[in-house]
Amino acid sequence: MPGNSIGRAFVVTLFGESHGTCVGCLIDGCPSGLEMKADEIQEFVDKRQLNVLGTTRREPDKVEVMSGTFRGFTTGAPICMLIWNRDVDSTPYEEMKAVPRPGHADYAANARYGGFNDYRGGGMFSGRITAGLVAAGGVSKLLLRRMGAEVHAHTVRIGSVSLSREVSVEDLKLAYDSIVRCVDPVISEKMVEEVRRAESEGDSVGGIIEVIATGIPPGVGDPIFESLDSELAKALMSIPAVKGVEFGEGFGAAGLRGSENNDPYGIVGDKVLPLTNKAGGILGGLSTGMPIVVRVAFKPTPSIGRTQRSVDLRSKKEVEMKLKGRFDPCVVPRAVPVVEAMCSLVLADQCIRGGLIPRVLS
Ligand SMILES: Cc1cc2nc3c(=O)[nH]c(=O)nc-3n(C[C@H](O)[C@H](O)[C@H](O)COP(=O)(O)O)c2cc1C
Repeated sequence: MPGNSIGRAFVVTLFGESHGTCVGCLIDGCPSGLEMKADEIQEFVDKRQLNVLGTTRREPDKVEVMSGTFRGFTTGAPICMLIWNRDVDSTPYEEMKAVPRPGHADYAANARYGGFNDYRGGGMFSGRITAGLVAAGGVSKLLLRRMGAEVHAHTVRIGSVSLSREVSVEDLKLAYDSIVRCVDPVISEKMVEEVRRAESEGDSVGGIIEVIATGIPPGVGDPIFESLDSELAKALMSIPAVKGVEFGEGFGAAGLRGSENNDPYGIVGDKVLPLTNKAGGILGGLSTGMPIVVRVAFKPTPSIGRTQRSVDLRSKKEVEMKLKGRFDPCVVPRAVPVVEAMCSLVLADQCIRGGLIPRVLS
């Protein structure tokens, strides 16, 4: 089925459904000779798990590497990773299968696949598909680390609560200490309250995740339609619930003068570098050598506990529906490693294409 793969040199295909047997990924084009410890991939996938906020679905999310590695190193053959679905309860979806949830993909998917789609838990449109994505992202992060590049994401907004201060690369490493993945403990607490308030009102909230990639040298990217920002934007927009992507100053640049928005150049050490980073590390679709800074806006979780209007597709009658399934009041904390993974996949693909990561690692 087209549309399930991303990348040209490092090609990742996702598969699985929320309530099917498993979810997972197939990576084709990973260079050989990459040391790939299963626990490192597992550690990253575990970051999607949350214990206090979020869905009551408890999946162990144990990653099984089925192919593509031998004696702890990648072989260059396709890497298949599986994550079994264990904690599945499809009962609520049987009751509401003909009544699409407002805000979710149910109605559009029913129209696209003529009703043959697996509707249980949102099927292939569920956030669960991102478990395989994070596993693939773990491999691309290892590849990027080999060339001295790191990708870190953190939460900068949940509902009406925002982190307004600048963060350092050291701060970014603290993101996963916070349950909402925000580097500031005080703001983090306020974000938790915001999520709990929405949940107690049978509602949900959205937010913004910022992702910062460091160590990408200048000149990475291809022309026009395969430019670094267009590929990142496409990839990040394909994460379920993402409704906006901005680079550097982003939409704010529309209100600035050129003199305010341009990043002047200077010599730093022995390198030519922009002295500020309004561009977010990308100009002309190519990396400038500055950190790549992207912000990704997530809508509030569509599945909410309130009574909503919908239509019974069998009787074509308007009905009221109240969901009985299990859902996150805010997908943002779980999506932080997903954004990190998606950004890493695109950067690894572009770096292999640009010859910065060799096809055989030694
Ligand atoms: C990590 C993650 C977890 C998600 N969990 C849920 C969930 O529990 N309930 C829900 O209704 N939507 C959830 N979503 C969002 C839906 O999958 C998404 O809104 C839906 O597929 C419709 O697609 P769209 O919002 O991109 O248009 C999640 C998304 C992500 C990234």
